[in-house]
Amino acid sequence: MKIFEPYKIKNLELKNKVVMAPMCQYSATDGYPNDWHHVHYTTRAVGGVGFIVIEMTNVEPDGRITDNCLGLWEDGQIEAFKGIVDSVHAHGAKVSIQIAHAGRKATDAETPVSASDIRYSDKYKTPRALSTKEVYEMIEKFGQSARRAIEAGVDSIEIHGAHGYLIHQFSSKRTNNRTDEFGEDLSLFGRKVIERVKEEIPEGMPLAIRMSAKEYATDGYDLSHGVYLAEQFKNAGVDFIHVSAGGEGQPDKARLGTVEPGYMVPFAKEIREKVDIPVIAVGILDDVKDAEAALESADLVALGRVLLRDPYWVANHDDKHRFVTKQYERGY
Ligand SMILES: Cc1cc2nc3c(=O)[nH]c(=O)nc-3n(C[C@H](O)[C@H](O)[C@H](O)COP(=O)(O)O)c2cc1C
Repeated sequence: MKIFEPYKIKNLELKNKVVMAPMCQYSATDGYPNDWHHVHYTTRAVGGVGFIVIEMTNVEPDGRITDNCLGLWEDGQIEAFKGIVDSVHAHGAKVSIQIAHAGRKATDAETPVSASDIRYSDKYKTPRALSTKEVYEMIEKFGQSARRAIEAGVDSIEIHGAHGYLIHQFSSKRTNNRTDEFGEDLSLFGRKVIERVKEEIPEGMPLAIRMSAKEYATDGYDLSHGVYLAEQFKNAGVDFIHVSAGGEGQPDKARLGTVEPGYMVPFAKEIREKVDIPVIAVGILDDVKDAEAALESADLVALGRVLLRDPYWVANHDDKHRFVTKQYERGY
């Protein structure tokens, strides 16, 4: 099966095409990862996953969804991440980290910040719109977090531009009614973040962005805008795109359609074809046949929830047993 064959992008060499999707564990203290994260990520490396994307890790304390989310806003946090990165490497996987800011979805922030002062729903706080100067400071924070991730030893970085978080808030006219340059061009904030992160990235290390290809909420943007954003992000310097969708608000059932295995794969395919860039597909690819089929539309396949249920998904599904750790061979 193609899914269990190696893949290379720039200097990143993966032993297979299975990506662990970033998944918040809400288990950190002051943004620092701990024993939970260490065991959680190491276990998926032991289970044979080729490429692990560490969950949403925020560029400032108020960028966290909750006070228990991870962060890389101070140098002291680097060492704790390094322990996890080293352990994942020791068990044969490559690792990326998703750097992020939740913007108006930062539920524990006293006053969350966003592109504009539009709240997510009546259950969320009304955010404060960042001034233009603060937007530039935020871009710098993404750069500093990227530097720390690289010091921790990651093989790649994924900028979180999806799911209704800060970058996505700038990318959509539902949440961006600014009158400065960041309102005139909805892709500008994302592009500036990419360009700043790129300054920290060593030669040969690939950079990714995760994005929502389409919004499901009423008045949300369509795939054509997703393709436009992807093009802009590619021009700004990303090497591959992790294609997801939604997260910006309550989905409109008609826009969402049926949530079934592979339901977001067509978005990955469209972006790969129109923008000519490698893509990761995601979304209920639990069945190995669905995951394999997704590789007709995408370069890599990300698994989320199924890896929470079965950290050994890769070892269990490769019938050549290439990814079974020596210690567990007798189990197979
Ligand atoms: C517990 C949990 C936490 C998640 N946290 C993140 C996150 O930190 N960043 C992100 O981009 N997506 C996050 N997601 C979305 C997943 O990365 C993935 O896109 C989604 O679960 C769909 O894939 P699946 O059908 O294989 O689970 C999360 C999903 C779950 C279930």
